[in-house]
Amino acid sequence: MDTATNADMIEFWNGDAGQKWVRFQEMMDVSLLPMGRRVMEATAPRAGERVIDVGCGCGDTTLELARRIAPGGAVVGVDISAPMLARAKARAGSHQGVTFQHGDAQVHEFAKAAYDLVFSRFGVMFFNDPVTAFRNLRAALKPGGRIAFVCWPPAKENAWVRIPTGIVKAHVDLPAPPAPDEPGEFAFADRERVHQILSAAGFRDIKIDRQDMPITIASGGGLDEAIEFFLEMGPTGRAIAAADTGDELKSRIVEDLRDGLRPFVTDAGVVMGATVWLATAHTP
Ligand SMILES: C[S@@+](CC[C@H](N)C(=O)[O-])C[C@H]1O[C@@H](n2cnc3c(N)ncnc32)[C@H](O)[C@@H]1O
Repeated sequence: MDTATNADMIEFWNGDAGQKWVRFQEMMDVSLLPMGRRVMEATAPRAGERVIDVGCGCGDTTLELARRIAPGGAVVGVDISAPMLARAKARAGSHQGVTFQHGDAQVHEFAKAAYDLVFSRFGVMFFNDPVTAFRNLRAALKPGGRIAFVCWPPAKENAWVRIPTGIVKAHVDLPAPPAPDEPGEFAFADRERVHQILSAAGFRDIKIDRQDMPITIASGGGLDEAIEFFLEMGPTGRAIAAADTGDELKSRIVEDLRDGLRPFVTDAGVVMGATVWLATAHTP
């Protein structure tokens, strides 16, 4: 794998972040299921198609794509994270039509004009040169091929990020946010920027729609599991890790999270509001 291009993100996703995604894999897959489904509904993968799952992580969407393109289809999940890919491979076993490649989608040598669909659930916001990355993906698509992905709008538009972050912020300083065009989970928050990147990369019929849906944190679990999630993952997890909180401060954060999240507890888990950008486009 080329490790020069996206070296910081390769280090990030192979370190603590990748390990935590593996640890929380089942919880993450329930949380992100509705977003992946929206992409699949928008682009309707069909039997026999060839698909790339960009930033496939622990492989949940890769396996669902494989089911949707059977019989005769083939999906390749590509990711820079060795620990997440190891989980994906273990889950896939000898599942027909699924392969995983350890690579940086920005520069990975995909077969040219060979794929019908490039898919991603939150795996395309981490490129240091997004236009080059999307050109590389476009070159892998057949003429008339399609791309479809979800990415996050600004954090403040997502209750499931805004509410716990507001609680944690009362106790610890949040790390300075990255510049808007730096790689990271909110790098595609600006819809206009995403449009420009796709257009510069040669895509046509670009649509980027806001989609609202519930996000279930700690499905089947309760408040304690949701609190553990927010202590470890996402912007709150990073703020707490950076602040290196002692036990006393941590227990005050836990109590405030408990109070702030209680209104969202349902029989299905802690259910909050989520908003995503759903982007679709075609090659000429
Ligand atoms: C937010 S996670 C999403 C994982 C998975 N798509 C899911 O929905 O569970 C982002 C994923 O993108 C991967 N990623 C980041 N930059 C990448 C790159 N340049 N090429 C391939 N994968 C990348 C990360 O390793 C990580 O697995």
